[in-house]
Order: sequence, then C-alpha cells, then structure tokens
Amino acid sequence: MCGIVGYVGKRNAVPVLVEGLHRLEYRGYDSAGLAVVHRGRLQITKTAGRVQDLRDKLREGVRSSVGIGHTRWATHGEPNEVNAHPHTDSSGRIAVVHNGIIENAEQLRDQLQADGVRLVTDTDTEALAHMIAAEAAQDGALEDAVRRVLRRVEGAYGLVVLDVRRPDQLVVARNGSPIVLGLGENEMFVASDVAALVRYTRQVIYLDDGEVATIRAADYQTGMTSRTPTTVEAETGDYELGPYADFMNKEIHEQPDALRRVLRGRLDDRFATARLGGINLDARQLRGIRQVKFLGCGSAYYAGQMGALLVEELARIPADAEPASEFRYRSPVVDPDTLYVAVSQSGETIDTLMAVQELKRKGGQVIGAVNVVGSAIGRECGSGVFLHAGPEVAVASTKALTNMAATFALLGLLIGRVRDLSAAGGQRIVAGLRALPEQVSRILADEEAIAAAAHRFAGAEHMFYIGRVRGWPVAREGAQKLKEISYVHAEAYQAGELKHGPLALIDGSMPSVVIVPSDDLVAKNISTIEQIRARGGRVIAVTSAGLPEDLADAVIRVPRAEPELEPILLNVPLQTLAYHMAAKLGRDIDKPRNLAKSVTVE
Ligand code: AGP
Repeated sequence: MCGIVGYVGKRNAVPVLVEGLHRLEYRGYDSAGLAVVHRGRLQITKTAGRVQDLRDKLREGVRSSVGIGHTRWATHGEPNEVNAHPHTDSSGRIAVVHNGIIENAEQLRDQLQADGVRLVTDTDTEALAHMIAAEAAQDGALEDAVRRVLRRVEGAYGLVVLDVRRPDQLVVARNGSPIVLGLGENEMFVASDVAALVRYTRQVIYLDDGEVATIRAADYQTGMTSRTPTTVEAETGDYELGPYADFMNKEIHEQPDALRRVLRGRLDDRFATARLGGINLDARQLRGIRQVKFLGCGSAYYAGQMGALLVEELARIPADAEPASEFRYRSPVVDPDTLYVAVSQSGETIDTLMAVQELKRKGGQVIGAVNVVGSAIGRECGSGVFLHAGPEVAVASTKALTNMAATFALLGLLIGRVRDLSAAGGQRIVAGLRALPEQVSRILADEEAIAAAAHRFAGAEHMFYIGRVRGWPVAREGAQKLKEISYVHAEAYQAGELKHGPLALIDGSMPSVVIVPSDDLVAKNISTIEQIRARGGRVIAVTSAGLPEDLADAVIRVPRAEPELEPILLNVPLQTLAYHMAAKLGRDIDKPRNLAKSVTVE
C-alpha cells in the first residue's frame, strides 16, 4: 500500500527520505520516488523498482533541507516510473505525494485538459499538482491554495505538498488516509505511518480528517487550537525482522511479551479485579451497564466474539459482537445502557470509525479497544483501553488479536467484580491471566510439531474449522487466518450445525480442524471428531483436553488454562498452522494478495 514521508529541517533531507521509504517498504509497493529542492529547483528521482534502486539512482551531492517521498501501490495507471510519485505541475513549481483515491479525478483531469494543461501521467494525483500550482500562482499562503483545491476534490487523501518557492515548509492534509507529524528539535517529519519516523522522533501528532497543516522546521500549524503530542510506543526494531523470515512469524513469537505488556499494571490482586482507568467508568456506572456489544471488522470482530463470551461468563450480562461494517449500515437501535466497544488494531478502519460516529450521534456509550495510540478510532471514542501489542506489521493480525482477547478478559473481570463474580472467582481469573504469557511460550516452543501437521495438510483445497461455544470464535479466526495468507478455502462451522448440512461435504479431501477446549463439552466434541472420521474426513484436533493421540490424524496440544481464558491459547496454534501452510505453499505471507493492513477507504 502507498506510503508517504516528508522532512523539513536542519539535516540533509535526502537520506532521511530514503530511510523513511525503506521503513515503509513492508507495506508493499510497486514504485518509489522523492522530490527535494536543490539549488532553487525541484530535483525529482523516481523508479519503477525498489527503494534500493531509488537510492542507486540519486545524484551524488544533492543536498536539501526539505523534501517529500513516496512508495506507490498503483490504483490509477500502470506501476511505472512516470506514474510514480511525486507528481508536479508543468512549471516544476509544485510537487505532491498522495495516498488514497480521488474519486472525481477524471472530471478534474478533463477540466485541466480543457484549460490547456498537458497531463503526462495516468494518475489522479497529477491533477492535484496542477491545480495547486494554479492556485499558488495567486498571492497568499500555500496552505490556502491547498485548501481551495481540496474543496473541489472528492475522495480520500493523505497529502504532502512541496513548493519550490517556499522551501521552508510543507503543507499536509488528511481525509480518510492517515497522516502523522513527527516533532523533532528544529526539524519536522511527516509520514503516513509512524514506522517512517520512529528512528528520529517518538513525539507525534495525528492529523484529523479534514485537517490541513503547514509544517516548518521550528513549528507546525494545524488550524486546530492546541494539539498535545502523543508519544509512540514503537521502536525502530519493531520494524526489523531480526532472525525471522517474515513479520507474521516474528509477531506470533512476540505474543508472550505482548501479553505481559497488556496485563502490566492492570491486575489487582488485593481486590481480585482489573484496573482499566482509561475507560473512565466508576463502579456505579459499571453496574449500570446492562449489555456489552463489541464492534470490529475481520479478526477484530472475531476477537469481539471472544470478548462477548468472556463478558457473559465473567460478568453475567448479555454480550455480543457484530461486524462494524454491518452495524454502520443497518440503522441500529442504540441502547443507552449498552456499553459499545470499538475494536481495532490500526484504529483507522473506516467501517469501525463510522460505526463509532453513528453511535455517538445516537448518544451511545462507546469505548475503544485500539492498538495504535493516537489513531482515529481511539481519538473518536475518547476513552478506552490500549492493547499494547506493539506495532503489527504483517497484514494478518496475530499479537493484536491475542491482546484484544486478553483485554476483554480484563473487562469481563472488572464488570464481573462489581456485579456477582466472587473474590475467589476473580482471583482465579487474575491468576489465569498471569499464567498466559508463559503458556503461550510453551505452545510456541512446539512450533515444529505444528509445522509438521501443516505440511501434511498443505495440499488441501478446502478445510473446515469446527468449534462449539468457546471454540467457535477460535474456529472462525483460525479459518480467517488460513484463508487470508494461504488462499486455501476455509470455512468455520459450529460443531452442532455440522449435521444440519455441511457434513455432506466431508470426505477424504476435506480436512477439519476441530477445537476441543477442556470444558464440559469435551465428550460432545469427541463425538464430532468421530462423526467426521467415520465419513472419511481427516481431523486435526487442537486441544487442551488431553485427548488420546489416535483420536485424530494430528493432535496439537495447548496447556490447560482457566476455562474462560482457553480461547486465547487455542487460537495461537491456529496462527502457526496457517503460517506454515502458507509458507509451504510459497505465499507472500506478510502481504497477502488483495489485502491491506488497514482498510481506511470504502
Ligand atoms: C486480520 O488478520 C485481518 N488482516 C483483518 O481482518 C483485520 O483484522 C481487519 O481489517 C480489522 O483491522 P483493524 O483491527 O486494524 O481494525
């Protein structure tokens, strides 16, 4: 996906931009480019190749205190050098980098051509460069020129504009596509992703939708009265692979530490409860909650399903989850006594953001469960719980999902303890949560056995993931993970539903992953496995229940945990299973086809 980086300040911008683009490579791209002001002129370098090719093409001795760079993922026009950003106007005054899609680009391009402008690329972005140059030709601030142009633009954008006549500044704008400012000492950075900035600064400001800002080395003006910078948790090493082949594997292995972080300071032994100060609800308000509803998309929705079970079990109040993408469109009845929880790793998913806005419009009580501090959903909610999973780079969510589920256990514990959950019950959950990081480490220590099972089943074209009650959201998330990164068709079913239709599909070519927690449904789950095998189906059992080895074609074991918490553990080997199946099939695991890490546009 496209990436933006920009710099103005005391250093030479060129290496800062190249380094920033290198940090954005993980998002996927097909071409790259940068623009700086050198000896009073725009100096543009582009390539249809990698950032390394761009580095090789750069002219020796080019220095500049200001510049913009871009990695492009083609939308309008082929992925070639001409269409690579930055784009300029005909006079070479204005250079623009842009993420997102301008929906009325055709109309804007037609108008420019009718006015005699010669367009040299197939992109939507080039139109912006010409329009901004025309407006900038009138007197006034560059920011005003950009604002006037944006009034005529429909669509999503994260934008950075460089004017050769104003080399002391950059103008940036955001509408639906993230833009973050990085504050340095007499230098200012801008990027679409903090990954490009963390090497230089951890003090950042996330722009809001509709915001336009001017940044200079010494200051920034966002048009908003006052903005408090956020300190990002990310470190440079979070964006480096280290000994791992890819980020998904790295992030799977980071889960014990990620869990330690999400639990740190949040377990209260004295009162056998959880501390979640960020949700800003006192005991009386917590008692007033009659229902909890989780809203998220994809894996965040499945984590919400795990959360709904946890809240129902621990707090004994009704809870459920719904895809935010459905909720926002169906004119939901918003109940003032329901606590809505918006769940998102990136904090930028448009459907979840829109669901939050809809809820707020209708007076709903909504908190965020978000990983990226300062992101749009977190800010829109205003209160909530941060997931502290650390930056998640791979498109497939692993450690963030695990931390979502652990966070919802904390929420269930907190609400439970102001209601009917006894101190002893609370202590059992506190101890169970505390044990999780080490239990996940034990699962991961067995990666080779899981890989062996994955290799045995990697030839399958279709797979079932079967679970009941606590195993059901685990099965759904497991199937999602396999589909996403291996492109193998996987479908999740509730065990009890098999007999009502899907059992007809079982034969030797349709393996099933059956989730067997150690709860009072073990016998029922064993019988499900037997029914599948009786019809020639092969079974991978993922279990904490000490099942005999010959019950299934492969048995993947996880440690026994407190029953309510077991979904958190049972999910981990499914990540590893999907990972090794995808690796065996030679897939591009971190960047699965057709998918983006965060879905910020419709
Ligand atoms: C997870 O593996 C997927 N890439 C996807 O379903 C993701 O969970 C979904 O797009 C929501 O993203 P978010 O958590 O950033 O809102």
